[in-house]
Amino acid sequence: TSGSSKSRGALIVLEGLDRSGKTSQSSSLLKYLERLGHSAELWRFPDRSSNVGQMISSYLSNKSQLDDHTIHLLFSANRWERRSLMETKLKTGTTLIVDRYSYSGVAFSSAKGFGVEWCKAPEIGLLAPDLVLYLDIQPEQAAGRGGYGSERYEQLEFQRKVAQCYQDLYDASWKIIDACQPMEDIEKQLQNIVLDCVTTCQKGKPLSNLWS
Ligand code: TMP
Repeated sequence: TSGSSKSRGALIVLEGLDRSGKTSQSSSLLKYLERLGHSAELWRFPDRSSNVGQMISSYLSNKSQLDDHTIHLLFSANRWERRSLMETKLKTGTTLIVDRYSYSGVAFSSAKGFGVEWCKAPEIGLLAPDLVLYLDIQPEQAAGRGGYGSERYEQLEFQRKVAQCYQDLYDASWKIIDACQPMEDIEKQLQNIVLDCVTTCQKGKPLSNLWS
């Protein structure tokens, strides 16, 4: 029941192309859950605050070069260094809204031509999300939102490949949201889905690991 100290939080992941609106929707979801009195936190990957995160950040802003395999493993390491805290938070009842996770890792690296199985391997054993929300937008529309900055992957050609790779990763459990609707409509849809998931987790749905 809600309020029970034993009920766990939900691991909720937002995925999508660059400029799909994940970041705004993640903060909006956090506020929504807090308004309802839930304990919740907003996380994002890459988490640029750690040493590994700083290497990633420098790579993304083209301040350093790294071999494609190396950066893939750093993104994964950046999730591993947060895994135990993630588990503690969830077990003590905090819901985590996570802006990008392992699916970004696989989609962006397989878009470079790596095999999906190779990309997934270092993610095995990380916590599996209870819910994946995919903000669906055509790469052309995302590019048209203006605001592609100077980061390494913010290029139409590459985002087209990433979109294809995300499609190869979808499974029936993902919730696909049309990211071109008015913002308030997206918010409402996400809120309903998320509340449902938070309730299911409170009722005792067990935590599990990727990659199943
Ligand atoms: P951000 O803009 O959401 O901070 O993400 C930075 C970029 O890093 C974005 O283009 C997606 C990419 N990325 C990966 O390539 N692999 C990963 O594992 C993650 C989390 C992000």
